[in-house]
Amino acid sequence: MTDQTQTSQKQQTRQPWRWPQPLAGKNSRIWYGGDYNPEQWPREVWQEDVRLMKQAGVNIVSLAIFSWSRLEPAEGQWDFSLFDEVIDLLGSNGIAVDLATATASPPMWLAKAHPEILPIDEDGRTFWPGARQNWRPTSPVYRRYALEMCRHLAEHYKDNPYVVAWHLGNEYGCHNLYDYSDDANAAFQKWCEERYGTIDAVNKAWGTDFWSQRMTSFDQILVPRHVNGFPNPGKLLDFKRFSSDALLDFCKAERDAIEAVTPDKPCTTNFMVSGAIATGIDYDRWGADMDFVSNDHYFTPGDDHLSELAFSASLMDGIARNKPWLLMEHSTSAVNWRPVNYRQEPGAMLRDSLAHLAFGADGILYFQWRQSQAGAEKFHSAMVPHAGADSQIFRDVCDQGRVLSDLTDAGVLGSRVESSKVAILFDNESGWALQHPTVPTQKLAQFTEPFSWWKAMADLGITADVVPVDGKWQDRGVVVVPNVYLMDEGLADRLRDFAREGGTVIVTYMSGIADRSDRIWLGGYPGALRDLTGVRVEEFSPMGDDFPGVPDHLDLDNGATAHDFADVVTDTADDARVVSRYTADKASGMDGVPAIVLHPYGKGRSLYVGCRLGDTDIAGSLKPLLGDLGLAGLVRSTPQILRVVRVSPDGTKFVFLFNRTREAVSARVEGEVLVASQADAGTAAAAQVAGEPETTEGTIFPAGLIVSRVDD
Ligand code: GLA
Ligand code: GLA
Repeated sequence: MTDQTQTSQKQQTRQPWRWPQPLAGKNSRIWYGGDYNPEQWPREVWQEDVRLMKQAGVNIVSLAIFSWSRLEPAEGQWDFSLFDEVIDLLGSNGIAVDLATATASPPMWLAKAHPEILPIDEDGRTFWPGARQNWRPTSPVYRRYALEMCRHLAEHYKDNPYVVAWHLGNEYGCHNLYDYSDDANAAFQKWCEERYGTIDAVNKAWGTDFWSQRMTSFDQILVPRHVNGFPNPGKLLDFKRFSSDALLDFCKAERDAIEAVTPDKPCTTNFMVSGAIATGIDYDRWGADMDFVSNDHYFTPGDDHLSELAFSASLMDGIARNKPWLLMEHSTSAVNWRPVNYRQEPGAMLRDSLAHLAFGADGILYFQWRQSQAGAEKFHSAMVPHAGADSQIFRDVCDQGRVLSDLTDAGVLGSRVESSKVAILFDNESGWALQHPTVPTQKLAQFTEPFSWWKAMADLGITADVVPVDGKWQDRGVVVVPNVYLMDEGLADRLRDFAREGGTVIVTYMSGIADRSDRIWLGGYPGALRDLTGVRVEEFSPMGDDFPGVPDHLDLDNGATAHDFADVVTDTADDARVVSRYTADKASGMDGVPAIVLHPYGKGRSLYVGCRLGDTDIAGSLKPLLGDLGLAGLVRSTPQILRVVRVSPDGTKFVFLFNRTREAVSARVEGEVLVASQADAGTAAAAQVAGEPETTEGTIFPAGLIVSRVDD
């Protein structure tokens, strides 16, 4: 692998973790609240807001996220009066403020005076003002105005006792992730120069001898604007990295401007970590630059709702490196931005919040406090709906405030998510590379395979952790490497070391195929992991149904069926054991080809799964192998229940049980029941075994949950 030396961009020092502190004279509590937009309402409503917030147990709000046009109504004219009054009203009523830098949406006057701040799409079209985030992160002009805003806010509020955190921007890149302007072009050239040093290194990384794309100087580099064919994959991948970095650079400039004035208040920004929504931001990299990390998560309608939430929240815990994080936004019911905006079913609101809490969120906030009367989000649910306080949603909001308060009293703060013996690796960059239009099939969305493994583990009763590929997974027993397509020597070495020391590495198709520049490892797939997996693949066999007679599935001799993708495994190592093969007609060339291969490696082993099986057939295929893989002790008999545990330093456990199904399920509840929602916590089991925690037999209904405490 020596000629594919990688440029490492992951070596970062992490900011020390810092958390928003409670208001003077108060103790730390689970934060509870939402986005608050008082500028949309007359003063009388503010009074009612604060009264209702207190009734609901709200103790924090995010303020001024989209308030630039109020704070600086004309260039250089600063007006903090509205926010002074609101912050004072909130704070004197015990409600803390997460204050935004207000830079997410520039005012109309700025775009008019400086149209050169507006982002440009790949076809050269301008994103005009009229929505939000109509700015380029690489614009020196926009940066000047935005940092001026940060400095004024910081100076004005530096001694304000009610401002406990800074909210940098808002969902960076939600609407301005890719910008193809001249500013972006100049910044991309500089980024490439810093990353590669010489233009020849860029040529090599991008394989520019292909289609005569060789360059002789950095100023020949172009952002990937509209082309008449397939764009260079290496360049496209680097442009995605650059776009994430350009926004991070802007975000850090805001952070630095704020920190220079108010070093005592921690900074965060709200991520959009959601398995189901592909993101162009490398959040694991961003996490290192925040004092604490925050997330916005919106539910996936339908059967995958809880699983997708758990997958995303677990990934957040991995990005947070197991430190507390904040759920900055989720919804009490429907959103406004899907084609069909489904409402939440009864119980789902509390269930979702407590699922985020179970996975490490020490604060639960919503978008937004009061549902807007006008504007593009007027049909988005809120804590106070259009119907007003006399509504089921607001009653549920109040109930939730009580539940969070009870959990604080029960000691949940300070406990951290207990790590699972099974880690599923997640790699954003592999997802970016596999989005290219010229890969073997367009069915390789990065989320699909890792999510199938998460659900398969859950079906076996195992709550796996989702861990960023550069995160902490070396202390686990089993590591799943699902579609980690890009792999440098460093990662391949870490996986080998892990197996050598006794770990189990489960590798799927489309892992370890290319290096970090998207240059293929030669000699047979998976080039980076051939020795570890003991397999060699000469060709891929994607499947579909777009032509009559094409292969659309493959049967395995263990009863499973593969769809979408299979490897043509041609060789297996002498010491490998083929666990399952395909059974197909002879003409297909796939009959008898190895599908699942177990390979001893050092004190450990690997399992290669060379096709897409989906969650049910992954779980079925793993069942006879649990002993071989070191999973046997982890399987639970009630996979209908998602079990997540938070542990305190003193050994106290908080056990969260969620119903994953649409049927009532019976549950063995350990210790003292703290919360039972859509559930019957039951009565004490007949005989308590000495030395074991007391248990009860409960029932959890759909969308229900039980939280209990087990004292050490
Ligand atoms: C995002 C934004 C919010 C709001 C919500 C609506 O999370 O940060 O301002 O637009 O979406 O779901
Ligand atoms: C055409 C072109 C070749 C190559 C092939 C790929 O035939 O002439 O350069 O791109 O398509 O199928």
